[in-house]
Amino acid sequence: MVKKMDVNVFIVLFCFIKVVLLQGTGSGNNGNLRLCIVEGRGLYKRAPTHCPILDKENAGVECVLGTDRLDCLRRISKGTVDFGVFSPEDLVAAQWANIDVLVTNELRLRSRPFARNIVAVVNRRILPTESSTLHAVLRNTTLCHPGESMDYLRPLSETLSAYLETLVLERSCDPTRSHTENRLKALADFYGKACKAGPWVPDRTRDAELKRQYPSLCAACAKTCMAGDIYWGNSGALTCLTDGAGDVTWGEADDVKSYFKIREDEPLTGSENFAYLCRNGTWKDLTEEPCIWLRKPWNVIVAKRKASEAVSRLTQSLTNSSVVVDRHWRGALSALLESNQALPEPLHPPRAPMDYLAQADGFREAYSQAGCDPPRHITFCTTSLLAKNKCEWLSEAGAVYGIAPPLQCIMRNSIEECLKAVSDRECDATAADSDWLVAGMRDYALTPILHEITPIVEKTGSIVAYINADAKITKMADLRGKRAAFPRYDGAAWHSVKDYITKHEKMSCKDYVEGYFKEICAPGMDGKKCYEAGETEALKSLVDGDSDVAFISMKAFNSFKETNGTSENIKKIVPLCPEGNQKFCFVSWSNLGHIFVANNLTNIRRHEIINVFTKLDQLFGKHPPFHNAMFSMYGSFNHEMEVIFHSNTKSLATINVLSTHPYNKIPYNFELAMSNVTDFTCGFGAKTTPSLVMLLVTLVVFLINS
Ligand SMILES: *[C@@H]1O[C@H](CO)[C@@H](O)[C@H](O)[C@H]1NC(C)=O
Ligand SMILES: *[C@@H]1O[C@H](CO)[C@@H](O)[C@H](O)[C@H]1NC(C)=O
Ligand SMILES: *[C@@H]1O[C@H](CO)[C@@H](O)[C@H](O)[C@H]1NC(C)=O
Ligand SMILES: *[C@@H]1O[C@H](CO)[C@@H](O)[C@H](O)[C@H]1NC(C)=O
Ligand SMILES: *[C@@H]1O[C@H](CO)[C@@H](O)[C@H](O)[C@H]1NC(C)=O
Ligand SMILES: *[C@@H]1O[C@H](CO)[C@@H](O)[C@H](O)[C@H]1NC(C)=O
Repeated sequence: MVKKMDVNVFIVLFCFIKVVLLQGTGSGNNGNLRLCIVEGRGLYKRAPTHCPILDKENAGVECVLGTDRLDCLRRISKGTVDFGVFSPEDLVAAQWANIDVLVTNELRLRSRPFARNIVAVVNRRILPTESSTLHAVLRNTTLCHPGESMDYLRPLSETLSAYLETLVLERSCDPTRSHTENRLKALADFYGKACKAGPWVPDRTRDAELKRQYPSLCAACAKTCMAGDIYWGNSGALTCLTDGAGDVTWGEADDVKSYFKIREDEPLTGSENFAYLCRNGTWKDLTEEPCIWLRKPWNVIVAKRKASEAVSRLTQSLTNSSVVVDRHWRGALSALLESNQALPEPLHPPRAPMDYLAQADGFREAYSQAGCDPPRHITFCTTSLLAKNKCEWLSEAGAVYGIAPPLQCIMRNSIEECLKAVSDRECDATAADSDWLVAGMRDYALTPILHEITPIVEKTGSIVAYINADAKITKMADLRGKRAAFPRYDGAAWHSVKDYITKHEKMSCKDYVEGYFKEICAPGMDGKKCYEAGETEALKSLVDGDSDVAFISMKAFNSFKETNGTSENIKKIVPLCPEGNQKFCFVSWSNLGHIFVANNLTNIRRHEIINVFTKLDQLFGKHPPFHNAMFSMYGSFNHEMEVIFHSNTKSLATINVLSTHPYNKIPYNFELAMSNVTDFTCGFGAKTTPSLVMLLVTLVVFLINS
């Protein structure tokens, strides 16, 4: 009997193993291969359309949704998914993390070996009579700059554009200039004139300043030096050249050929006046095979090492051109791989990512340009290992797109320590929410230079006065002499209410703190502790009848009500709308988070930091059409939400943008109110521990006196 059972178990196990082996080596159910997918920001979602077909037809492939492409790459490297689609830039960004994966397929969208082949075209009038160096040929000529943008769809990202510039120009590292300015100055010093139309930096005021400072870089433009000038962009740069406004430009080889109608019977009139310029200073007719300055590879399928053979076998079955019209799983899989035609043959054997990229001339070199010496960075302080790790990926992703100077990430144990590290110049910036706004400005001499904004009012940080409906309180003034509950001392609620009441009751700050409420519970104040700090605790104090009013966010109230809404008491809690804001009912509202820097930064440095973060926001935030699915800075990181930045953030804004923004019509913005306040202390309640400066002053006074 016992023996028989053993045999049965053995058979069952044996069958199980056999089935698994037959079905594949993937990490999914029954050995299915797992495909990691990143949805775009548009309305069209690929996964719900195509993934069910894979399941229904037992394709041996299943979908997993990743936050962004680098998230997918990390999952492949960890082995929880098996393959996905990536851009060459993704592979460069992941290089530092030693991700162990293989490239199994190229995804060619056109029948040419590289996605981009960048050439230089010149007007023959600048060519010398005998051979010369590149430098000598181009010096003091007029450049038609194709421009660069955060739009990754255009041929020249900032990195590639900077690389092409460095093939000709000397690197300039003047410490009194920002990185952007150094680049512009080198360009302006080398070329006689240029048309570099379109934004140079995202901040418009700064953009206008820079354009005034380097007018020669706009001198060759038709009218405006903005996006929209007839010499702006890729075809604009070619027009600039053929109009005779400039002497040299860069472009995609196929665009150049079709612009000059090289392959047609009748080339563009006058095209014999132009030539390809090579990197060694020689030149060629436009009718010849061009010399390529830089190649960019196609997107690829990347697989985890162990699954690469299975992925190659799978993709082999997509090389038949019938898949394009296939309504079954092969067609669905092709669509999920963003391939609009039959795949080319898989690579034999699969390649390591860097070997794959090495075949594209110039591409890897473009990403390893020497930086300045000493190196420049923007050092950002984080408060957990996870946050530091996210910061590092953001840094790599930004560096790949030429956002410079690069971020460098450090870690401290708490927000206070990060604020202090910025104040002590151990780092340049940190992020914290509105509860830290006043402490940051007052105790650490910091200033918030950027704010995480959302256009959805309900998602902002709001402070609302909640009361019991039975209490005879109908207006804010009725709160005098009542018992007030705050989530914490010195936070956003504390300062908003103080600001509101001192202004509306026309009383001094000191009188307010000492006498307005009968009782105050604000954990952290005077060492008194009535409850643990937190919005839930403040609300519970109201619900339990220990307070008459609780100042907390609408979000905290709603989520408390959702989970704990059954008790009779909570049903009686209602908001008390302040005069002047019956519509939204906030005592104040604030943006989701803030990036803090030292308040005495030089202008150059401040511009540089704003520039780097707003560019990161443009690329990796939520800006259609720019949004790049490589990395999502407001998205989850390793399955955790709200790491460094808030998931509801729409973009980063300077205080100027804040004060002119339409929804600033909503009264009682916290940041704007606090940006006016000079004395936060009411002569009482400032930081209780004396600062180092105070200690030093005391010591000096002591020494002088003795
Ligand atoms: C640059 O070119 C302009 C005219 O094209 C000329 O006047 C000027 O002297 C040149 N500068 C140098 C340094 O060669
Ligand atoms: C310069 O480069 C071109 C294209 O790469 C090549 O055909 C030519 O032989 C080179 N000339 C010299 C002198 O090195
Ligand atoms: C391509 O697919 C079609 C339809 O499924 C099939 O008839 C044909 O034999 C396939 N061709 C190759 C080369 O596998
Ligand atoms: C619900 O109440 C419990 C205990 O009072 C508290 O710990 C929890 O945070 C509350 N839930 C929410 C969402 O506030
Ligand atoms: C800014 O202030 C700090 C501390 O007060 C000081 O050490 C530093 O030199 C100042 N920096 C500039 C650029 O003024
Ligand atoms: C800031 O102060 C100025 C002058 O004191 C005042 O006119 C302005 O309304 C204040 N702004 C805010 C948001 O309180």
